[in-house]
Formats: sequence, C-alpha cells, structure tokens
Amino acid sequence: MTAFDVDAIDLAQLRERQSAKYRQYPPDVIPAWVAEMDFPLAEPIAAALHAAIDRSDTGYRSTEGLAEATADFLEMSWQWSVPQDRIVAIPDVLTGVAESIAMLTEPGEGVVVNPPVYPPFFSTIRDIVGRSIVEVPMSELDGAYSLDLTGLADAFARPEVTAFLLCSPHNPTGTVPSQAELEEVARLAAEHDVAVIADEIHAPLTLPGARHVPYLTVAAPDARAICVIAASKAWNLAGLKCAQMIGTDETEGIIRRRLPLEVQYGTGHLGVIASVAAYRDGGPWLEQVLGILDANRMLLADLLAEHLPEAGYVPPEASYLAWIDLPGWGDDPAVAILREARVALNRGPTFGPGGRGHVRLNLATSPAILTEIVGRLGRLTPGT
Ligand SMILES: Cc1ncc(COP(=O)(O)O)c(C=O)c1O
Repeated sequence: MTAFDVDAIDLAQLRERQSAKYRQYPPDVIPAWVAEMDFPLAEPIAAALHAAIDRSDTGYRSTEGLAEATADFLEMSWQWSVPQDRIVAIPDVLTGVAESIAMLTEPGEGVVVNPPVYPPFFSTIRDIVGRSIVEVPMSELDGAYSLDLTGLADAFARPEVTAFLLCSPHNPTGTVPSQAELEEVARLAAEHDVAVIADEIHAPLTLPGARHVPYLTVAAPDARAICVIAASKAWNLAGLKCAQMIGTDETEGIIRRRLPLEVQYGTGHLGVIASVAAYRDGGPWLEQVLGILDANRMLLADLLAEHLPEAGYVPPEASYLAWIDLPGWGDDPAVAILREARVALNRGPTFGPGGRGHVRLNLATSPAILTEIVGRLGRLTPGT
C-alpha cells in the first residue's frame, strides 16, 4: 500500500468536501473544529467503497464480517479477546452511549461525567435519555489531566448515582487513563453498583508513549458495563454510520433483549463495509497517521511557543484534539478567533466546567495548515 503525502494536502481541495467540517463556515475560514481528519481516505477503505458502488451494493445493511473483523482488531491491538456474538453493530457511538444509559439506568438517576468533556455527553444524558448529570471534573496539574479517583469515589457513593460515562481516551484533554486508574474505577463501580459505559472511540488513535487499556479488560467478567467503540474516528468514517457495542457476561443479555432493533437497523451498510476494511486492512494507513499526529502534536507545542507564548498546552496522549488554555483571551476565545483570525476552533465553555478560557484545536491536518492556523492566531491581539 502506498503512503500518502501529507504535504500535498491542499486547502482548496479540502474545501470541495461536503462534510460538516468544510461546510459550516465560509471559505475564508480554516476549519480546525469538529473531529474529522484532512487526510485522504485509506486506500483499502476507498477500494472497498468503490467496489460496493460498482456493484450497486447500496441496499439495507448486513453486518457480514463486522463482528469477526472487530474481534480480530481488538485482539491484535490490545490482546482483548471478545466473543464475536458480543459485538453488536450500531449506527454511531453517541447512539450507543444513549442506548447504554437507557438500558442500565432509570429516568432521573445520576450519570457521572468528567468535564471538561465532549459536549454532546451533556445533551445526551439530559435531553435524550432524561438522566441527571453529576460532574466530577478531571484533576488538572499544569495542564496535564487525570481522572479524579477521590471525586469519583464520593460521587459513586451518592444514592442517585447509578452510572459513569467514561471517556477513554479522554476528549478534549487527550488523557489516556492508566491500567491502575481503570482498575480503581472498576473496583469503585462494583462496590457502589454503578454501571460503567466506556466510550473508547479514540482508542485506536493512542499515540506513541501511551498505552490504551480497554475498560472491559480490567472490569470483572460480570460487571455492569458496556464498551462502545468504532473505526469511525481513527479512519475518518463518521458519516458512514457504523459503531460497535460490546457487553460483559452481565450486560450482553441486556443488550440482546433491550437494544431496540431499529437502532441496530440504523447502522450504515457502507459503514459496515468500510469498518471491515479498516479493521482488516487499515493498519499501515493508521501507522502513518499516528506518525503524523505524533509530529503535529509536537509541532503545535513549538508553534505556540513561538506565536502564543502565554498559551497553556500539554500534547495529547491520544487522538488529534489539542486542548489549549489561552489566559488573557477572555472566557470564550474561540469567538474572537473565528471573527478576527478566521479560524474555526471548538469553544472551551461548551465542554463544561474547566472549559472557560480554552479552545479545542483539530491537529489532523498538514504541518503547513497547522502552521498557518497558529500564525493567524499569533497575529491576533487578545481581547479584540
Ligand atoms: C468521545 C467521543 N464520543 C463520541 C463521538 C461521536 O461519535 P459518533 O459520531 O460515532 O457518535 C466523538 C466524536 O468526536 C467523541 O469524541
């Protein structure tokens, strides 16, 4: 398989894309917000999708090959053995999160989240499944984040708390919880009978130096826990609608009995085809991407030191989202940055407590575009 040339990535060409990243803002704005990548699609995935189109294979989805390909990928990546009949196809990770909470908790009960955290977690818990949000902020030390295990213990002891939505690796801080931390989460969850929903969508993007530990490998086999994972973030397939839900001895029967069939039927047919190709043959492309992201996260540190020395930034341990503290730029720096610098970033305050004064920047682009983004920010005076 041929590698792609990251330096050939061209903004004018990217702007021909019809996805959210490139259609939300006018063409003079460089989009570095939503978690889509600027890289060309992996060749084996493109070939599988082209072949499907060539045979007019656009009917209802079958999940043929998906459980097997997913199980092989989990085994190869994390030595995690999952029986194929435990791997259930669903349209996307957020649907899996919402359905898991609905299956494992009752209306009004409390679900713990760790802000600053992926904003749709709040609306999913509150508005879609009607549970209440219990915030246990991430611990922060000089810009490095970790799970607050004492805070989690206190929250799990509260009678209204019946679930924990774990984001591992964590968006937006890029933190990869350690095995010891996850073991403690599992111990606390068992002690207080708290269900754990592990959103591991960013796991295949764990960068050199960190090690992802799947939550279900540290939880007891009969834990009240569900993992939701997908090829969609690592191989940029979000629009094709395919994710996977994985239960334990305890929850697999609940999923089989209670996960609505219409949810399972909502999985995209081309998403299944693309995910199978990603898990089976997408390894070399992902290796190249991890190398680019590794370099970009360090390049960003250099660029910030040069253009915005006041910025607080610790390179992420996983994925391609940089969480940047901009002291002196007010509560919501992304608003002025969009207006004045014509760069679209995610607004820190939407990530909940701890988000004020921050922005989230998408690193999955070329070094040249990243350099242009930070150069634009550097030319902006805080407070404008
Ligand atoms: C932590 C996390 N969960 C879920 C999602 C959304 O995934 P999906 O499009 O599969 O619902 C994202 C998207 O970036 C994410 O970062």
